[in-house]
Amino acid sequence: MVEKYEYGSPVNTQAVVEEIPLQSGEPSFGRILPGEGFGYICPLEKQDVVYGLGENVRGLNKRGWIYTHYNKDDPAHTEGKHGLYAAHNFLLISGRRHIGLFFDYPGEISFDVGASREKELSVSAPQADIVLYLIEEASDREVVKTFRRLIGKSYIPPKWGLGFQQSRWGYRTAQDVREVVKKHKEAGVPLDIVCLDIDYMDGCRDFTVSSERFPDFPAFVQEMREQGVRLLPIIDAGIKAQEGWEVYEEGRKKGYFCRKKNGEEYIFGVWPGKSVLVDVFDQEAAKWFGEQYGFLISQGIEGCWNDMNEPAMFWSLDAVKELWEKVPPEEYAKEEKLTSSFARLQSGIQRFQDNPADHDRFVHHYEGRTYTHRQLHNLYGYFMMKAAREGFEKGMPGKTPLLYSRSSYIGMHRLSGVWTGDNCSWWSHLLLNIQMMPALNMCGFLYAGADIGGFGDDCTQDLMLRWLSFGIFVPLMRNHCHLDYKPQEFYQFEKKEEYRELIRLRYRLIPFLYREMISAAENNDVLFAPLSFDFPEDEMARSVDDQLLLGDSLMLAPIYVQNAPGRYVYLPEDMLFVKCLDSTHFETETMKKGIVYIKAKEHQAFFFVRKGQEKKIGEVFTELSIGS
Ligand code: NOJ
Repeated sequence: MVEKYEYGSPVNTQAVVEEIPLQSGEPSFGRILPGEGFGYICPLEKQDVVYGLGENVRGLNKRGWIYTHYNKDDPAHTEGKHGLYAAHNFLLISGRRHIGLFFDYPGEISFDVGASREKELSVSAPQADIVLYLIEEASDREVVKTFRRLIGKSYIPPKWGLGFQQSRWGYRTAQDVREVVKKHKEAGVPLDIVCLDIDYMDGCRDFTVSSERFPDFPAFVQEMREQGVRLLPIIDAGIKAQEGWEVYEEGRKKGYFCRKKNGEEYIFGVWPGKSVLVDVFDQEAAKWFGEQYGFLISQGIEGCWNDMNEPAMFWSLDAVKELWEKVPPEEYAKEEKLTSSFARLQSGIQRFQDNPADHDRFVHHYEGRTYTHRQLHNLYGYFMMKAAREGFEKGMPGKTPLLYSRSSYIGMHRLSGVWTGDNCSWWSHLLLNIQMMPALNMCGFLYAGADIGGFGDDCTQDLMLRWLSFGIFVPLMRNHCHLDYKPQEFYQFEKKEEYRELIRLRYRLIPFLYREMISAAENNDVLFAPLSFDFPEDEMARSVDDQLLLGDSLMLAPIYVQNAPGRYVYLPEDMLFVKCLDSTHFETETMKKGIVYIKAKEHQAFFFVRKGQEKKIGEVFTELSIGS
């Protein structure tokens, strides 16, 4: 059962693709609050578990915290945060009833999931221009399936997208990349993709390649292809505002960059320095922007990752000017002690980055209307990806590009995948990766993954091996790292063979994983599910927050604690425990329903095969193969 209610004049976010008749009156579950803005409230029963919210912090069960979706470039994914790079406004209340709620709204929106009042879920947004979808079905899985039917089929990447990806911000030259590939080849570590970060560009400008550091780029792309490796370049949202550079000049001449209400171009700072943003909401501008990806295609490239597309802004020219006027240098420079004017300057600077106040300064043109950026903020990543996808479709007809994005809104799951941004080399972020996967899947993102080993901070060997032991089951499998931290390619560690065996194991899993992923997409299902999806009556299963079902045959219970020789696992039914000693040898043991303690060394990936699915084990371990 689906109910659709419309309030005010909602933006067409393109999230829902199925026609649903509008309903009037109060929703059959919860109620709309009177007053300013939008407010919705519904009861939570003691036993209810609340799932969903896609890419966000905390556990599988979202109860007990306030989440706010206003996409942000925030590299500190700590428990105290309320939101990250994405706005996935879907919740699933699982209890005596099974209710799905989707708040289709592209501005800032908050979800108080029983934090302020234990027995209430309340949702609020500053503007009452929203579409609410309410779903009720007989089970959690059915709610998800209905929701996914509404939002359309998930993106399936080309099979090579499930291959292993090595990345690092800091591969500066073709020679650096050659070295990475050579070392993988020599050690027999399978590798399908090397990601190119902003280092490949000429002066951090999109749609350029540094001819000094990557001479004859198309020949280099080809050379890598001959070694079985594809290069996957990054594209940023900010376009360098550089006079004389053709991409900027053309976009400016045609009026495709975002402007302020007074018609001036909106200038902000990001990696290339002074930058502008394409108004990707405007069809013509989006088409032009999409066509720019043709440059990459002409070099032999078959996909890319879209970054900084929340969009991230380190400063805006207007905010800098205003602060300069408010706190003129002569005021604080002449003083001998740390003065209040200096403190004002300092706090002003701290507010420069990603300040929502800046988002009111410039506008977008969409479907015949003008909106401030703030009103459409959470949709920017989606519309940027839409332009990119259309550009790739034009440039490589009939072929699916490999695409993933940092920022997203529901709807983007039809076009590309997501990676979960700048996590850290922390054990808690391995757990966060585990807990995010089902939530991302519920919101349609099947091709998803986190930076394995962590992006920020130094990764230790044990963390890398434990993370890989989970990462081999995750569709988007990428080792990526920040340029200021210790490199974390396999050859930086002592246990190179253990690392290699895990990647080989991944390759044996790919045919199975790819099949499971396609089947999840076709059936509007999840790849990773909380245990309660299949064991709804089992109290214990409902409370487990760190184990996942994978398809209908496996259960995962990764170890995410340092120095732990093993962990307790809850088996909701008898299962077969499979421990991988390396990529070709494994031990099995039949285990009885209940709590068991499992031991596994850092490099020993393990999983459980569900009752009656034992024959799957042969299918799981298919021989090393990857198609194109
Ligand atoms: C931020 C991205 O999240 C990260 O993956 C990338 O390495 C840096 N930008 C530099 O491009």
